[in-house]
Amino acid sequence: MKDKILKELYEHQENHISGEYLRKKLNVSRTAVWKQIQSLKEEGYVIETMSRKGYRLLEQRDEILPGGVKFNLNTREIGKEIKYFDTIDSTNTYSKTIALEVPHGTIVMSDEQVGGRGRLGRNWSSPKGEGIWMSLILKPGIPPNEGMKVSHIAAAAVCKGIREITGLEALVKWPNDIVINGKKVCGILTEVAGELNEIHYLIVGIGINVNNIDFPTELEEKASSLLIEGKKKYDRKELIVKIISIFEKFYDSFIKEGSLEEVLRLCRQYSALIGREVVIIKGGSQEAAKVLGMTDEGFLEVELSDGRIEHIFSGEVSV
Ligand code: BTN
Repeated sequence: MKDKILKELYEHQENHISGEYLRKKLNVSRTAVWKQIQSLKEEGYVIETMSRKGYRLLEQRDEILPGGVKFNLNTREIGKEIKYFDTIDSTNTYSKTIALEVPHGTIVMSDEQVGGRGRLGRNWSSPKGEGIWMSLILKPGIPPNEGMKVSHIAAAAVCKGIREITGLEALVKWPNDIVINGKKVCGILTEVAGELNEIHYLIVGIGINVNNIDFPTELEEKASSLLIEGKKKYDRKELIVKIISIFEKFYDSFIKEGSLEEVLRLCRQYSALIGREVVIIKGGSQEAAKVLGMTDEGFLEVELSDGRIEHIFSGEVSV
């Protein structure tokens, strides 16, 4: 019930909503509404209560407008061109259609995706106004098998960016999910087009659950948002600017100096898996293992139950 009240408060931020309205909408007593409001206040939500008017959540709406991002970015190339949509099927799918014509570093972002795609053919829930749904179009002159490293760069940048802006203990769950308190708040889908020896373009799709207040039932146990974990709403523009700036720094040192040092250091320091017992899911089979570390190539180093050491470069790991 608390989540539903919170949702109503967010949806009516411009004006107060009465206890009577909430009572009827949720089919509960006024005392129950009042108790939930108190509980939300205790959790840190700032809610104004006015007699005869009701309740109002005292936070500003944040809009992602391309200018708000672009004019605050101090990057050299990434984000110099931004294509913004109110709604789109998938920023990754659209990016593929324009990748060859637009400059390296172009960003496609949308306030909502109606056909958001995740790894392993899954869907990615991308509700309007709640998250960061964006794709970076990159043209690095590297062989396709190096593409995975750019995914690690993105994961390290998102993890560091979230930590700096929110203070939350974001961790990297290999290969490139970001989790907080064991729940996924960000996924990265990297897609490559090219030939055997060179990438034509690479699309790094980043989905961050920022201000989501709830999730479809099937995701509830595994997914979370920065708002749920931090108990406050975050400015999506500020996060985007921070993450892109960090990403460009890491990306430049990889492309210009071949160095992934800082990225690997972060992925190891903030790993959600190193030292833990996990299950490796490969195709149809599952195998228990202990995670020992991450190699300089970005592979996950694990010890299987029979003592064999393996380096895993793709697939999924569950804890
Ligand atoms: C995952 O399965 O963890 C990856 C999710 C990636 C979602 C992002 S949202 C922006 C971009 N557009 C998409 O359709 N997917 C990626």
